[in-house]
Amino acid sequence: MLEREDSPTASPPREGPAAVSAGAAASGDTSRSGFNRRDFLRGSGAAIAATAAATAAEDAIAEDKPATVVPAKAVEIKLNINGADHALKVEPRVTLLDALRNDLSLTGAKHVCDTTNCGACTVIVDGKPVFACARLAVECQGKKVTTVEGLTAGQNVDQVVAAFVKHDASQCGFCTPGFVVAVKAFLEANPKANLEQILKGLGGNLCRCGTYVGVQAAALECAGHGKEG
Ligand code: FES
Ligand code: FES
Repeated sequence: MLEREDSPTASPPREGPAAVSAGAAASGDTSRSGFNRRDFLRGSGAAIAATAAATAAEDAIAEDKPATVVPAKAVEIKLNINGADHALKVEPRVTLLDALRNDLSLTGAKHVCDTTNCGACTVIVDGKPVFACARLAVECQGKKVTTVEGLTAGQNVDQVVAAFVKHDASQCGFCTPGFVVAVKAFLEANPKANLEQILKGLGGNLCRCGTYVGVQAAALECAGHGKEG
């Protein structure tokens, strides 16, 4: 068998740079880099001591400072939801969506992306569709909030809800309340919208099940276009 020049068996094992360094470090000798293990340990000790000193200094400075963190304290607020006033106590950081779902048990608006990307949390505030996940509850005092529950109360089922049922515009249903509310708000502002306008108007809502055809048909019917648009 021909032996290649770079074959491991072509020449006896050589002592490589790693072996040289390891040997030198073990003995405390200076390696080719001019740096040995004693230098390294000495340097590490100095770095640790410097870090400890800096931390102690920061602690001392922190103790002198007045407290700047304000604890989140629940505040009493009043929200008008679907025509009724509700008194609740929430921390200022609580979103409208969490206040609706956790404090008022209005779970129609869904908590999905939490980043204004899906529209599942859509509610109407003073006539405009908003992402409830991006509104603080305290901001909504003095405003009129409409949720999907407000469109289905009692015997008065809103025509948008009826159109969604008629056109089977729902599959898993998770996006549906947000879509219903978005369609309602859009058609309130654009009662005779055509398909192109509807598509644009509902651009903030996503359906992972792909029920867009049904949603469009429902919106078109509510806009007076029947099935054709
Ligand atoms: S949960 Fe608010 S936009 Fe998705
Ligand atoms: S019906 Fe399932 S996400 Fe829209």
